[in-house]
Amino acid sequence: MTRTVFVTGARGKTGREVVAQLVERGDTEVRGGSSRSPQAPTTVPFDWRDQATWSKAVDGADAIYLGRPDVQDSPELVRQLIAAAPDAHIVLVSEQGAERVAADGWVQRVEAAVTGTASRWTILRPSWFQQVLTDPRYFLDAIRTERVISLATDGAPIAWVDTRDIAAVAVRAIADPATHHGKAYTVTGPEAVTTADIAADISAAIGAEVTAVVPPLSEALAGAPPWLADVVGGMFGRVHDGTFAMVDDTVERVTGTPPRTIKQFIAEHADQWR
Ligand SMILES: NC(=O)c1ccc[n+]([C@@H]2O[C@H](COP(=O)([O-])OP(=O)(O)OC[C@H]3O[C@@H](n4cnc5c(N)ncnc54)[C@H](OP(=O)(O)O)[C@@H]3O)[C@@H](O)[C@H]2O)c1
Repeated sequence: MTRTVFVTGARGKTGREVVAQLVERGDTEVRGGSSRSPQAPTTVPFDWRDQATWSKAVDGADAIYLGRPDVQDSPELVRQLIAAAPDAHIVLVSEQGAERVAADGWVQRVEAAVTGTASRWTILRPSWFQQVLTDPRYFLDAIRTERVISLATDGAPIAWVDTRDIAAVAVRAIADPATHHGKAYTVTGPEAVTTADIAADISAAIGAEVTAVVPPLSEALAGAPPWLADVVGGMFGRVHDGTFAMVDDTVERVTGTPPRTIKQFIAEHADQWR
């Protein structure tokens, strides 16, 4: 019988790759969720803030690719969604170093909502996504128009990972829950690089100088509500202490293929910054 997979955030940086790879495999029925107007054939309406949309998305789903919503009540929302699909294998996108966050911290509480509620689960703890460099919500416009990448990393390296590789791990987990149930995987690229390294590589690729700017962390947190400042501040703490620089071989171990380098990503996407 064909298995059914519901993918949250089907237009997002990881969700769209999970949908594409599942469709390419061809052995599942894929429901891709979006809170915006649905687009046939792979999109169903799904809004974390509108529970009336949930049953159509999750009823009968054998697996759910779950991008946690970045909202304060995410642990409760995740718990409620899993309660609506108690038999589904949940593949959660968390973040690198989640195991170092205090048990009462938001990152841990989202993971606990999954591990304490789902009958089968797999946690992915990815490093920073290479695709934020081409995302208009993050760095695309600053690189293209101002020629800067501004990040409060203080020169600390990060093992940036391509979302296609995160999706490849997720798809293996979805395809083989017996092997991947109960596992938490750190998912990184093959090397840790600094923002200055990235700026230099983009500069060389586009033939124009891009500068790495290091604002104070307080600037990155300005205006954030306390819960979010705690989450983002904790994440930068793990950048500064080297947690996000740790390289893990999950991608190659799980998929059989080495992860893409950030140099490959930059070469492939140079046109977007010219
Ligand atoms: N960015 C990184 O480097 C990074 C690293 C590690 C972990 N993470 C985590 O990975 C997750 C994705 O982050 P991202 O910034 O990369 O996300 P993203 O690409 O912007 O995707 C977020 C998705 O959420 C969906 N969404 C927004 N509002 C929604 C709602 N009310 N109901 C249902 N879906 C909604 C959006 O789709 P629609 O608008 O179509 O609904 C979008 O596809 C987050 O939990 C983040 O903390 C990110």
